[in-house]
Parts: sequence; structure tokens; C-alpha cells
Amino acid sequence: MRRNTRTAIALIAILALMVSMLAACGKNSSDSAATPTPTPAVLEPTATPTPTEVPATPTPTPNPLDDMTLKQVYADDFKVGVALPLNMLSNPNLQADIAANFNSMTFENETKPDAILNRDACVKGLPETYTEPVIHIEHIEGSMRIAKENGIAVRFHTLLWYQQTPSWFFTEDYTAKGAKVSREVMLKRMESYIKQVMEYMEEHYPGQVYCYDVVNEAINPGEGDPNGMRVKSLWYEVVGPDFMNYAFEYARKYAPEGVDLYYNDYNCYDKVSQILTVLQPILDAGNIDGIGMQCHLTISNSVERQVKKTAEKFTAAGYKVQITELDIGIEDESDANIELQAMKYRVLFKKIREAKAAGTIDIDCITIWGLYDAASWRADEYPLLYKYKGGKLVKKRAWYGAMQDPTVKAIEL
Ligand code: GLA
Repeated sequence: MRRNTRTAIALIAILALMVSMLAACGKNSSDSAATPTPTPAVLEPTATPTPTEVPATPTPTPNPLDDMTLKQVYADDFKVGVALPLNMLSNPNLQADIAANFNSMTFENETKPDAILNRDACVKGLPETYTEPVIHIEHIEGSMRIAKENGIAVRFHTLLWYQQTPSWFFTEDYTAKGAKVSREVMLKRMESYIKQVMEYMEEHYPGQVYCYDVVNEAINPGEGDPNGMRVKSLWYEVVGPDFMNYAFEYARKYAPEGVDLYYNDYNCYDKVSQILTVLQPILDAGNIDGIGMQCHLTISNSVERQVKKTAEKFTAAGYKVQITELDIGIEDESDANIELQAMKYRVLFKKIREAKAAGTIDIDCITIWGLYDAASWRADEYPLLYKYKGGKLVKKRAWYGAMQDPTVKAIEL
């Protein structure tokens, strides 16, 4: 090749190289503004952390109690129950936890007289219904089926109560304004009601109800009755101070063999002597088995003095005992109060279990009055064992307390 030709080729090559470098420069600068070059993922184990680099939040140590449940922990002691509104047991997000933890349930409202008495049918059916009130209990069907499938026994609450019992039930024409019926007629209505409820439950759900609250909250000293009976009650007003004797007599008459009959009340520690006085003739007649202590508490209540000692007095007097409506309120959810509440639950379950083992309390169930805080009648006091978050139950420190978790202190402050 001639020298000129070689020089020309070399020049052309240099020129081509410069053009392509310029083009590449221009391209890079415009791209870098739009899409930043991705940082390549570091795959090499170059970042093995030294001890000081360990993340600040350590993985929590698994709590062995998370593999256990309330009914398992107390399997040798007593049943653990829960009060539930109608729809809760059929909620698939809750059912498994309920069934795992509880082996007794109480309907929160659905088996109270105002839910069972059928006013329209009572009115329409007169005069036949005059002493035979009409009832309907079909609404509990779904929950009763699920309870049975899951081995959850039912404590029936409550046949007679001064509240949640419509005033029309006590009148001649089953209207709220009607004249009150006589004592005799009301006793017939009472017997018919108790008979129908018990027969319905046994026919449709044989063996599922293991105890009845026959009467709720009939004693309230200070209203003028010499024995401390609650006077402001239509049962007291229309039938008289002995209405409980009849209620238990009828209940015994129609209750299936082996089903326990309870009197249930709040603040029992304040009225032990009145309760025992009023119930004595019923006990003597063999018509009552137990006393239900509601136990709507706060962290200021004394488990030792108010719960345990009271239950021991009832046992010594010849009654079975149940804690039927336990909840323990706190003023706010400060860390300190959350811990005090957990302690109170732990102490209560511990002392009752120990007294049962020692034979000083004859108890066969502790029922928590509700499942999670937001659904409690005392929601503003956060009194229960669970929260409900993100569609599921979350255990509180109170649950761990009730489970006898050693990280919860077992002392009463
Ligand atoms: C009383 C009743 C329960 C319930 C609570 C409040 O304790 O016995 O049935 O109504 O009040 O929820």
C-alpha cells in the first residue's frame, strides 16, 4: 500500500473513533438524568456483622405457653368459660381460638327472658296464653351446634332476673300498660316459662346445658326488705319476697338429672350473710346446687379477701361455686396497669386452683365475661384477655397471667 493511502486510512480510523466516543458521551449524560444506574445487589457474604452490628431488636424468645391454652392448663381443676354474643362463635376468625381455650360458654344476652319471651304470640294467643306464655329460642341454634361440635358445654344465663325481663310479662293483657296479674297467675307463668325453657333445651340440645342460673341479682340490701331482698323488682312486687323459693322449686322439678341450679349475683363479698339467709330454705329443700359469683372486678379488688374468702364461705355452707362473669378493669392501658391486670388474673386463677386442690372451694368453672376488650360491656376499662386486631385475636398480658406465666408476678398489690 502506498504511504499516502496508509496515512489516509489511519486518519479515517482516528476520525471514526472520535465520532463514536463523542456519541457515547452524549448518550450517557442524557440517560443518567432519567434512570439512575442501579446499585448492584451485594451477594457476597462480605457483610458478616460483627457483634456490635447485630440489629437492635432481638428476636423474642418463644414463650412455651403459646403452644398451650387455658382449658389445657386448668384441665384438672375446673372448666374455663367465656361469655359470647350470638355471632361470635360462628366467626371463622375466632372459632378456633375460642374452642381451643374454652370448654364452657354463656350466651351474653340471647338466653335472657327478653330474648326468649315472644310477646306477639302471647298477645295473639290470649286467653290460652294467660298462664302459658309463648317462648322462642330458635335464635341460639347455630351457636349451640358449633358449641356441641367443639365440646363446649353451656351454662344457661338466666331464667329469672329483675332486668332484661319485659314489664309486659307481668300484666293481664301482655302490654306494658296493663294491670299487673295476681301472685297466683304470675307463679303459673313462672312455672310455665321455666318448664318450657328447660324442656326445649333438653329436647333440642340434650346434655349440652350443664347448669342454669335460675335467679340473677335478687339480693340488694338497703331497699327495705328485712332479709336484704331487692325490692325494686317486678318479681318481688308481683309475687312477693318468696319468689325465689318457687323459682328453684320449679327449676328442680323440670331440670334434667345432674344439671346444676345456681343463684348468681354481683359483689357477693358484700352480702354473704343475706345471700346465705335467703337461700337456706332453698338449700334445705334440695333445690339449689351452687352460687355464681359474678366478679366484675378492678385491680383494686382483693382476690384473697373478696373472692377467695367469699367462695370458701359459700363452699363451707354447702354450695358449689362458680365464678360466672369475671372481668378486671383498669383505668388506662399504661404499662403499669397492663401488668397489674395480668398479675390480678394470675393471682385469681392461682388462688382458686390452690383452694380447689385444698378442698376449701368446690368450684367447677371460671367464666370470663367476654372475649376481647372492644366487645366488652366495660370496653373503656380494657378488662379482658384478648385484643382483636387485624381480623384475629391477640393475647394480652392478662392472658399470660391467667395462664400462670412466670414472667407475670403472682402477688397481689
Ligand atoms: C350482669 C348480668 C350479665 C350482664 C352484665 C352486664 O352482670 O348478670 O348478664 O348483663 O350485667 O353486661
